[in-house]
Order: sequence, then structure tokens, then C-alpha cells
Amino acid sequence: MGQRFAGRRVLLTGGASGIGQATAERFASEGATVAIGDVDVAGAQAMADRLGGHAFAYDARDPAAALKLVGDAQAAMGGIDILLNIAGIMTWGRIEETDLGAWQRTLDINLSGPFYLTQAAFAPLSAAKGCIVNVASASGLHPVYGTSAYGISKAGVIALTKSTSLEWARHGIRVNAIAPGGVNTPMHEKTTAAGGIDPAIFTEAAGRNMPKLTDRDACTPAEIAAAIAYLASDEARYATGTVLILDGGQLTG
Ligand SMILES: NC(=O)c1ccc[n+]([C@@H]2O[C@H](COP(=O)([O-])OP(=O)(O)OC[C@H]3O[C@@H](n4cnc5c(N)ncnc54)[C@H](O)[C@@H]3O)[C@@H](O)[C@H]2O)c1
Repeated sequence: MGQRFAGRRVLLTGGASGIGQATAERFASEGATVAIGDVDVAGAQAMADRLGGHAFAYDARDPAAALKLVGDAQAAMGGIDILLNIAGIMTWGRIEETDLGAWQRTLDINLSGPFYLTQAAFAPLSAAKGCIVNVASASGLHPVYGTSAYGISKAGVIALTKSTSLEWARHGIRVNAIAPGGVNTPMHEKTTAAGGIDPAIFTEAAGRNMPKLTDRDACTPAEIAAAIAYLASDEARYATGTVLILDGGQLTG
């Protein structure tokens, strides 16, 4: 593994599980120091211990928590070069059956969380001429049947990415997003079980979206981490405001 991130200080959310975990591993393996913010403090701490990084309790719904996380990460690492907004939740349900609590929670965690953290990290990212990668979703570009609140929140993440890239280019900060299709992580299982949702709705959604690469294995968190690492690396020096789609052909199906 190369050392593209030697000396870089990375603040990422959602590092206790799935894509966030794989991303923390990837950046650490390429020389970065990582600070992880997650509601799952024990999971984040276990990752930080393993990677020689730092872990902090963080709830994406809370603007004060975003300010505290940035302060803690700066104190621990001496600055922030790269911010990765990865934490998120999946919400199932057609529009008419999405209860307002689930709607609000989805927007709070998936969209407001990255907004608060982006705002809070302006000063250190400006000082570093750093960059941001936001984890959106293919469903933010094209609806996936039965996941409307989720898709709408991720469309917001794409708009956040583009707006921030436009306004912060003059500060030397690049801002990009990735839009994965289905990735093999605990997310679907957790959310369907917690919400009492019938996972059959996912089968219906997958059928309607007809991925082209259905003969291949599901996308792995490590493959998404590799794409995030590219966008955050100097090799992507000229990329800002872009959305890199990794969906196995779903959007063109
Ligand atoms: N798995 C997929 O198919 C898929 C597809 C497209 C996009 N994504 C996006 O990738 C990101 C990571 O998803 P994943 O599949 O790794 O899920 P995951 O459930 O495995 O991990 C999500 C992480 O976010 C943390 N988190 C949840 N709520 C939080 C909160 N309020 N504050 C702070 N942290 C919180 C969890 O503790 C967990 O560590 C999410 O933004 C998700 O929407 C996932």
C-alpha cells in the first residue's frame, strides 16, 4: 500500500461500522492519522485503538457535537486536513407510510449532520487547504423504490457537496461525494430489523432498479473506501464538486 496520506490528519464519522470502518483502515494503512466520531463510542474506540488513532462520542443530529468533535480532533491531531462525512442511517418506507419521526431523524443524521460538521470544520480545513468527501448514495441521484426519505436526504448531501465546493474553492478546499449503490455492510440488516420493516421491500426495490452487474458479488466497503481515498488524495487535485458513482450500473439499468 502506498503512503498517499502520510502526515495527513483525517476526521471521519461513522468509523465504528461498515464503510466508515473500511475507510478508517484504508487511510491509516496509507499513513494518515485518523480521528473517528460515532454514536457507537465503543466501536469507534476499538477501531482507534487498532489504528493508533482517536475516537470521540458524536451524535450527527447535534450541532454542538459537531463543534466539539472538530475541537477534539484538532486538539488530538494538531489540525484537520481531510473531513469524511460517512455516518448515516437507512430508512425504509414508501412516502405514504414514512412516519414523521423517521423522516426527521433521517434528515437530521444524513443531511444536517454533514452540514453541521462541514460548517464547524471551515477554519481547520481552510488552514490546511484540505478537502471533504461526503458519502451520498445512488438513491440521491435516482430514486430507489421504497426508500424515499433516505434518497431525499442523500440528494441533499449531493447539493451540500456542490454548494460547498462552489463556495470554498477560493479557500483551496476541494469537496466531492461518492454515490454507492448497495454495499455489503450491516446497515440494511440493522435498519430493517430496528424499524420492523419487511426486507422484501428491498428485493422489490432491487428488482425495479435492475443493476447490470448482478452476476458479480456485492460491492464491498473496501471498494468504497478506495474511491473515497482517491477523491481525498492529491491525485484528485482537479476534482471538486464531483459525484463519483459506484453502483454496479444501477443508474444506467
Ligand atoms: N450500505 C449501503 O448499501 C450504502 C449505500 C449507499 C450509501 N451508503 C452510505 O454509507 C454510509 C455508511 O453506511 P454503512 O453501510 O457503512 O452503514 P453502517 O450502519 O454499517 O454504519 C453507519 C455508522 O454510522 C454511525 N451512526 C449512525 N447514526 C449516527 C449518528 N446519529 N451520529 C453519529 N454516527 C452515527 C453508526 O454507529 C455506524 O458506525 C452512510 O451514510 C450510508 O447512507 C451505504
